[in-house]
Amino acid sequence: MRLGLLTGGGDCPGLNVVIRAVVRTASGHGSTVIGYRHGWHGVTEADSVELTAAATHAILAIGGTMLGTSRYHPADHDGATERAVDTLTRDRIDALVVVGGDGTLAAAREIAESGVRILGVPKTIDNDVSGTDRCVGFDTALAIATEAVDRIHTTAESHDRSMVVEVMGHQAGWLAVGAGIAGGAHAILVPEEPVDLAELAAHLRHRHRRDSYSIIVVAEGASVGVDGAAGMTTSVGGRVRADLAARTGFETRLVVLGHVQRGGTPTAADRVLATRLGVAVVEAAHDGACGVMVGLAGDEITSVSLADATSTARLVPKELLHTAHALLR
Ligand code: F6P
Repeated sequence: MRLGLLTGGGDCPGLNVVIRAVVRTASGHGSTVIGYRHGWHGVTEADSVELTAAATHAILAIGGTMLGTSRYHPADHDGATERAVDTLTRDRIDALVVVGGDGTLAAAREIAESGVRILGVPKTIDNDVSGTDRCVGFDTALAIATEAVDRIHTTAESHDRSMVVEVMGHQAGWLAVGAGIAGGAHAILVPEEPVDLAELAAHLRHRHRRDSYSIIVVAEGASVGVDGAAGMTTSVGGRVRADLAARTGFETRLVVLGHVQRGGTPTAADRVLATRLGVAVVEAAHDGACGVMVGLAGDEITSVSLADATSTARLVPKELLHTAHALLR
């Protein structure tokens, strides 16, 4: 069998682990893997390389993706979908493995409608793909964000400051909730629920009568309801910082973790998950599966349709939000 493989969307730790697992499992089945460079762009432009087991030697611990990635979406470019289908036909690809988050997998669903056999693997540090309990990259990003919050405690406490820490997550607050709970934050702001900054400021003023500092973890897509001139140009974290500083009078600083969260070596948990999904997707392809994404449900590897995987973002459930707020004092 001839398998195609691409990694699309934002890079994250664990993509190379998926590539390694796909190539080695395929090789065990006597199959060939053609890797397309820079996500869907490589399929559209026929930019590919044959991946051998030897080529995937020593990539397990390396972040990013040896294939490169992009946010290129064929539907946004005239004739690109047709060119992508032509490439796959010319390369005699029996099934294409697409490793991506919501945007890349939505493109997969659309192109699958042209009759191409596609299988998905979920990855994003945002952890918001439906149909899986975990996405590749999330565990590593969570560890990085938690370490950052841990380190910020010392400056916050030494200087009696409020520190706003902005983490990634434009649709869902998985990283904010995870790093906020694990790092002992004093407030956690997420896209899933609106925040009243006047109430939050009152809470901080009350808190500072006892402890002289606070850490506020904010998802980049948090629903903070702050507008005005500053709101047009600064990040959500910047707006929260300015608003809280004005309301409390406390020295308030912003730390935006940004792409630091997507870099570096994957954690052991991400390596295990990426390997399980990479093996499973190749086995599913050999079993004749089509139009599905492999994922994790509890401890089991399962699969869901690409349509279900891309229908909505997977949000943080109420119980976890409740836990996130339960110890905020
Ligand atoms: O999609 C994952 C993500 O990390 C988001 O949390 C963030 O909004 C976005 O990527 C940033 O992407 P880029 O690197 O393209 O600016």
